Amino acid sequence: MKNTTSAGRWVRDVIKQQSSYHVPPAGDFIKLDAMENPWPMPPEINQAWRESLNDLQLNRYPDPQAADLVPRLRTVMAIPDQAGIMLGNGSDELIQVILMALAGDQVTVLSPSPSFVMYEVLAGACGLNYAGIPLQQDFTLDMPAMRSAIESHQPAVIFLASPNNPTGSAFQRSDIEEILELAPGLVVVDEAYQPFVKQGKDFMSRLVDYPDLIVMRTLSKVGLAGIRLGLIAGHPDWMKELDKLRLPYNINSLTQATACFAIDHWSVFRAQIENICTERDRVYSALSSMQGIQAFPSDTNFILFRVSGNRAENIHAQLLKEKILIKCLHRPGTALENCLRVTIGRPHENDAFLSSLTSLL
Ligand SMILES: Cc1ncc(COP(=O)(O)O)c(C=O)c1O
Repeated sequence: MKNTTSAGRWVRDVIKQQSSYHVPPAGDFIKLDAMENPWPMPPEINQAWRESLNDLQLNRYPDPQAADLVPRLRTVMAIPDQAGIMLGNGSDELIQVILMALAGDQVTVLSPSPSFVMYEVLAGACGLNYAGIPLQQDFTLDMPAMRSAIESHQPAVIFLASPNNPTGSAFQRSDIEEILELAPGLVVVDEAYQPFVKQGKDFMSRLVDYPDLIVMRTLSKVGLAGIRLGLIAGHPDWMKELDKLRLPYNINSLTQATACFAIDHWSVFRAQIENICTERDRVYSALSSMQGIQAFPSDTNFILFRVSGNRAENIHAQLLKEKILIKCLHRPGTALENCLRVTIGRPHENDAFLSSLTSLL
């Protein structure tokens, strides 16, 4: 009888070299590390939400077409009629589907760097080359570098998170338009943080102008991270191909019903987002006025900041001791050297963070 597994023999080398996605346990911490909406569903609609689940038949598979949900998403996100849409178990799943569809030996995935880590992680897992093109020091796109990388790599897909995670700001519209003109393949504009953008239009309405544009959205940041619902919208030709890789029934019944309910009560979620934006501006001003902190402007529900004196890891650890969980992005020698990222929480949570940070500086 064998006493070892054959995993070492059969699992692909690229997978063996990766680590699992680590989520630190949050326990009773003030959780400001994952860009969630800190507000639960308000009590005045909570009961109605529970009632909306009463008639679900959990013994049956979910509606594979999500027929109740799709029209609501089209309306609330102003998705052009001409565009096709596909839903995912979070936008992470949709990134994976796009990459699985394009996977091949000589295929390159390109995105600015730093950006959302899953583009690179999933590109690696699918065996694709990944080219991360450094942003400028102020975290705007380096357009000469982007132009020459597009020319030399001929990427099958370019991911542009706008606003970008972890830097927090939206890219210049004209830069995105130029990339759309130059790209030889798909351009995915990932608008996960679009609800927090104060000014400037998103790219949803531009789907009619660019056949190789896909716009990606998620409900995770607006208060529904727990139901895992992401969406891509794009040309029906693309959607037809990508849909072949979607697992049957990937959007469960509870998610579909909850998302329908949430969209029917959208003003409640909009009010929470307004509140988060007000808090974000307050936290940004407070951080900007602190000695030894460089805070980067944010169009999102988080703020990236750099601490002086090589103290990012230390400050992160000290905050943990005070049961405040933020994200340490510090990597020596990279654009994120000495950088930390804080998600906007409820006012008292933000106060606790700001006052602990002040006393640590
Ligand atoms: C830019 C960006 N895209 C996508 C995601 C993933 O969102 P979802 O929860 O829908 O998988 C995140 C999550 O942090 C993100 O920052």
